[in-house]
Amino acid sequence: MYGLTLDVKHGELKIRLRKPEKEDLPELVKFFSSASIHLFTNGLFAQTIENELEWYEKNRKDPDTCLWLIQPEGSEVPIGVTGLHGLSNMGGTCTSGIIIWDKNWWKKGIATAAHEARNWFACNWLNRFTIRSCVRVENVASFRALQTAGYSVWGEEPVDDFRDGRWLATYHMIYFRPSTIHYMFPDGIPEKYLPGHERAIRQMALAEKEVFRP
Ligand SMILES: CC(C)(COP(=O)(O)OP(=O)(O)OC[C@H]1O[C@@H](n2cnc3c(N)ncnc32)[C@H](O)[C@@H]1OP(=O)(O)O)[C@@H](O)C(=O)NCCC(=O)NCCS
Repeated sequence: MYGLTLDVKHGELKIRLRKPEKEDLPELVKFFSSASIHLFTNGLFAQTIENELEWYEKNRKDPDTCLWLIQPEGSEVPIGVTGLHGLSNMGGTCTSGIIIWDKNWWKKGIATAAHEARNWFACNWLNRFTIRSCVRVENVASFRALQTAGYSVWGEEPVDDFRDGRWLATYHMIYFRPSTIHYMFPDGIPEKYLPGHERAIRQMALAEKEVFRP
């Protein structure tokens, strides 16, 4: 399934999360063959328009998935994709992912703003209690964006993947919905999750002001 349209105004930055259209797919084909984009993702092979059409149809019908394209103000085309997967989980969790395929838009706060809206929607519309994510230890930008959003590291997996001639380790991270974390830890929130919990409270309060429903 595709997510409802959300606008985020974060300082000077304005982005829209919106559903993909078939007309967007050539943009994905253009960028999804880049080895540098996929250095820290699970992607290993180049994409064609046929793959992207299949991807579009599969996700359009998949009730387990909620996906958005990311389009910043000032761009005629989407520059990335973000989403939630595994939504049929009975325990109210899911997993999240993001790829900003146009490197011209890196390091401008787009992932941080997109996570803010995505987590707000996951908690307040999709009723998720937790969101899980994985990030390669070397992927500092992704790690920082997840940390700001309120995710905490719960484990580190060595030699999880092989890229560019070397083994990569992975952090496993989890986000606890701030309003329901006490339900999951009736004896008190473990100390290792407290800093993430505080960041999650801060980001949720920001989202209440910065996420708009056009
Ligand atoms: C990882 C990715 C999503 C980050 O997106 P982004 O919009 O550039 O991230 P942001 O601008 O929100 O930056 C997040 C933080 O990382 C920092 N950062 C960004 N690029 C960085 C870099 N190259 N090196 C170090 N820090 C960096 C930012 O300064 C910011 O720090 P702050 O939280 O202290 O302010 C983007 O680079 C990407 O799509 N990469 C390819 C695919 C990928 O790796 N996806 C994630 C898989 S887990």
